[in-house]
Amino acid sequence: MGIIPPTTDPVMVYAAFCLAVATFVLLLIRNRSKVTSSTSRLPPGPPGWPIIGNILDLGMAPHASLAKLQTKYGPLIWLRLGFVNTLVISSAEGALEMFKNHDNTFCNRYLNEALKICENYNGTITLGPYGPYWRMLRRICTTELFSRKRILDTAPLRRRCVDKLIAWISKEAKETVELAARPNIADFFPTLRPIDPQGLKKKMENKMLEVLEVVGNGKDEPTKISDTNLNIFILVSTQTLNYVFYMHELFMGATETTNSTVEWAMTELLTNPTTMKKVRDEITQVVGHKRSFEESDIDNLPYLRAVIKETLRLHPPIPLLVPRSVIKDTELMGYIIPQGTQVFVNVWGLGRDPASWDAPLAFKPERFLDSTVDYRGQNFEFLPFGAGRRICPGLPLGNQMLHLVLGSLIQSFEWSLEDGVTPETLDKSDKMGMSLRKAFLLKAVPKPVCL
Ligand code: HEM
Repeated sequence: MGIIPPTTDPVMVYAAFCLAVATFVLLLIRNRSKVTSSTSRLPPGPPGWPIIGNILDLGMAPHASLAKLQTKYGPLIWLRLGFVNTLVISSAEGALEMFKNHDNTFCNRYLNEALKICENYNGTITLGPYGPYWRMLRRICTTELFSRKRILDTAPLRRRCVDKLIAWISKEAKETVELAARPNIADFFPTLRPIDPQGLKKKMENKMLEVLEVVGNGKDEPTKISDTNLNIFILVSTQTLNYVFYMHELFMGATETTNSTVEWAMTELLTNPTTMKKVRDEITQVVGHKRSFEESDIDNLPYLRAVIKETLRLHPPIPLLVPRSVIKDTELMGYIIPQGTQVFVNVWGLGRDPASWDAPLAFKPERFLDSTVDYRGQNFEFLPFGAGRRICPGLPLGNQMLHLVLGSLIQSFEWSLEDGVTPETLDKSDKMGMSLRKAFLLKAVPKPVCL
């Protein structure tokens, strides 16, 4: 038998290369389908690729990609993200089963590496492991910060902040028009730009500082909020740094979520003029224009409450909740979910599931008017604040702030879209950051209504 010498024929080399690539791809495809067949007590899910698993299935907007997978795989979806086992709860039925019957084994947090860079995550409510220390932090939150009495007591503080916001928008509306209309010599002679001869750039910078003053600069604001609670936290906190983390997380939790919800509410109202008119008419009728909007008005404004609910249904700021981790192997809807599995609850998908909602993509606050469905963690098709032991402890405060800010903005101004933008052309796409924000900032034009 003779030995075949290695070929140098380029055609043969190319053919051998193609054959090797084809074999490799076939092997990958075979392995891909094996992932699901060898793990039959796990929920169904799309086949993953070796090593990367299902990472590519998430795409740029995981909440939307996962909602699409729900139609094919049902209430529980199993994914492998790299080497991380992941369960996605993607229907109200799955959420009910998890929160009602297994909350105690699903209440740890799953932390990715970036979140572990500093050991102090253990001392925060959001990321801390379920246990006695976390329970103590939660108790302080619910009894000292967000109790009904404390919320009532601090209403004037929030009203003052909103007064500042309204005053700022009124002044801004007037001054921006003036500034924009003023001819700037630096626009015509670029060499003059560094010296800003008319000081117009400086004035704009000062405006930005005023914005920070209204929104809060994240440094002294937590101290202001905590005036009356400072002592309690110093007493209970064993490490000073934990206290700083604690206040910082409450501050971040509060601002990002409420800002994003108010922006989405204004976006939906500006693109649904009939709804804007209805909510404006209700506020005019109940509150009028002779006095400020107060938190005590909220109970008398069912349509405004429905607008906030509808906004949170379509645009929950934390669309997959803060990931949970399974404490021990648990049987869920007939499947075995292994200990350590990362769990996403796709509340964005639940809010748009046609099985739970009529015309799920339409902004229709009316759906909430004669309904008892709300976001306090008992209606599993609607969970913008989460549910169970880890439900958002800031819900009572967030609830007041959302109604107060949106109600005051609508009472104090008539709003329109900027020139050239119509309800049909306004870009409503979203982008994941700290929360699910509008991809492009909403630009709305206020016209003051005299109080
Ligand atoms: C529009 C307003 C808000 C929304 C939609 C919202 C939503 C959420 C969600 C979805 C979670 C995760 C719940 C879960 O895993 O089941 C959460 C947790 C949390 N939220 Fe909020 N939140 C809001 C306002 C606030 C406010 C005002 C505060 C405090 C001042 C706050 C503080 C927290 C904290 C500390 C956690 C962690 C709870 C834990 O892990 O035990 N949130 N929030």
